[in-house]
Amino acid sequence: MPFLRERSGAKGSPYRWSPEKIAALLLVLLPFALLAVRILRGDLAATDPLGLGAPGLGGPGLGGPGLNAGLGPGAAGGLGGGAAGGLGGGPALGARPLVETLRFLGDWAVRLLLVTLAVTPARRLFNWPKLLNARRTLGLGAAAVVAVHFGLYCIDMGSLSVVVREIVLRIYLTIGFVALLGLLALSSTSWDGAVARLGAERWRRLHTLAYPITALAILHFFMQQKLDVTEPTLMAGFFLWLMGWRLLQRYGHGTGLLALVLLAVSAGFATALLEAGWYLAATGIDPKRVLSANLAFGYSIRPAWWVAGLGVAVALASEAALRIRPLPARRARASGAVT
Ligand code: HEM
Repeated sequence: MPFLRERSGAKGSPYRWSPEKIAALLLVLLPFALLAVRILRGDLAATDPLGLGAPGLGGPGLGGPGLNAGLGPGAAGGLGGGAAGGLGGGPALGARPLVETLRFLGDWAVRLLLVTLAVTPARRLFNWPKLLNARRTLGLGAAAVVAVHFGLYCIDMGSLSVVVREIVLRIYLTIGFVALLGLLALSSTSWDGAVARLGAERWRRLHTLAYPITALAILHFFMQQKLDVTEPTLMAGFFLWLMGWRLLQRYGHGTGLLALVLLAVSAGFATALLEAGWYLAATGIDPKRVLSANLAFGYSIRPAWWVAGLGVAVALASEAALRIRPLPARRARASGAVT
């Protein structure tokens, strides 16, 4: 399997297994493995979500019963609905297994897109150059998961003309479809020959399209959620952090502790504002209520805190890692090239 190997530099055997590529492949296969386990367990109609974070990052609901009461049909948990937020899976594959599978893979597609965008920061923050080996596998894997997500949608619709009509008529599908086309364009240029043909600089510029594509994917995620936008908000928060880091890096502060802590706090704050703004636009809820729900820890820990907390943890972990294994002359601080 040549795509799992890297150059070894040794004379006798020029290639060896790449741990980064193998880990990336395993991560890409994880959603399919989780799905297979559900199917084998006959879990298609169960109510317990299978996966890594059963109660969901969002907890039981934004603002608890008081806020839910004011939100209409909120019996299932109101804005924060924990069941939908578990990283392992979201709702069980219930009444319509095909649609639940489609949703499950949609969630994973967004996660994989974000993990792909996290490779560049992670390799600098932890001085781990070989992590770059994982990026192509992750990006192609995300595209493959999206392709299956779209394929399931086509099967569910039953006819291509219906699919085309729906994509034209429903804006969230149009947005998803544009993101899909973008991913296909990036995938078709994700091989060494394409890099050589386009030239490194043009290839790099083309692949910055991954940013708007991910933004569109997250918007698609927001738009098809009916009431609970906990997970899309969380994904948007991580995306804001990733883009903010690129800005820092451009100005030479991508590995500075203070800059990273400020980035974490700003990304968390922006996440809270985004969530409040979304609810205002979608449901007319007073943004002050949504913002104050961020302080109601008894019910849930809102996405803004996860984003800020994880950002601070990354800043501290990076500081420790770079003390153990410093960047050569803190090169990354001066470098502005970011992809
Ligand atoms: C980059 C491209 C795309 C990504 C990352 C993506 C991701 C997602 C995500 C995260 C969800 C929400 C899952 C949940 O409810 O937990 C979703 C739902 C959905 N997506 Fe996509 N999607 C993409 C493209 C498309 C395309 C091209 C179509 C079809 C034209 C599509 C059709 C749907 C449908 C029908 C739903 C479910 C709506 C429902 O709950 O009834 N998606 N997608």
